[in-house]
Amino acid sequence: MIREAIVTTVNAAAAVHIAPLGLIADGEEWIIAPFRPSTTLDNLRAVPFAVANYTDDVRVFAGCLTGRTDWPTMASDLVPVPRLAGVLAHAELAVVRVTEDEQRPRFHCRVVRLVQHAPFGGFNRAQAAVIEAAILTSRLHMLPPEKIESELAYLEIAISKTAGPAELEAWDWLMEKMREYRAAPKG
Ligand SMILES: Cc1cc2nc3c(=O)[nH]c(=O)nc-3n(C[C@H](O)[C@H](O)[C@H](O)COP(=O)(O)O)c2cc1C
Repeated sequence: MIREAIVTTVNAAAAVHIAPLGLIADGEEWIIAPFRPSTTLDNLRAVPFAVANYTDDVRVFAGCLTGRTDWPTMASDLVPVPRLAGVLAHAELAVVRVTEDEQRPRFHCRVVRLVQHAPFGGFNRAQAAVIEAAILTSRLHMLPPEKIESELAYLEIAISKTAGPAELEAWDWLMEKMREYRAAPKG
C-alpha cells in the first residue's frame, strides 16, 4: 500500500527540499523510494531524517511539479527537518536502514512522531484527479501522447463535477505545463 505525501528533507546546510513522493507501507515503517537522480535521495544520505506531510491541499502536489516550491514550513518536534505548515497531519521519520538499488534505493523509516493538526474532511474526486494528473505530468517523456490525452480527458470529468477553487488552481497549473509540453519540439 502506498500513500501519496509531501516529503520534506534537508541538505547538510539545512536547506529544505519539498517533493511529492509515494510512501510504501512496510509494517510499522514507511519506505521512501526516490528514483536516481533526486535531491530527496541526496538529502536523505546527508541527513537521514524526513517528514511525511499529509495534506488535502493538492496545490502543493501540482505546485512542486510546476516550479512552485515555496510552501511555508515550520520546525518539527523531534527531527532536524522542517514540516509543512497548514497540513492535516505529519509524521516525523528517521531512516533506520537503506536497501541499495541502481535505479531506486529504498530508505526504510521509523515513525518517531505522528501529529494530527486538523480532521480528515472526506474524499474529493477532484483532489484524486489532480494527484493522478500530477503523476502523469511527472512522466510525460515516458508515456505515449494518446495515453496522456485520454487519461486527462477522464480526469477532467471529476474536476468539472467536484473541484473547489484550490483544486481548480492546481489543475490549471498542470494543464499549463501540459500545453507547454504539447507545444515543445519533440525528440
Ligand atoms: C503523487 C506523486 C508521487 C510521486 N512519487 C515518487 C516516488 O515515490 N519516487 C520518486 O522518485 N518520484 C516520485 N514522484 C515524482 C517526484 O515528486 C519528482 O520527480 C521530484 O522531483 C523528486 O525528485 P527531487 O527529490 O529531485 O525533487 C512522485 C510525484 C507525484 C506527483
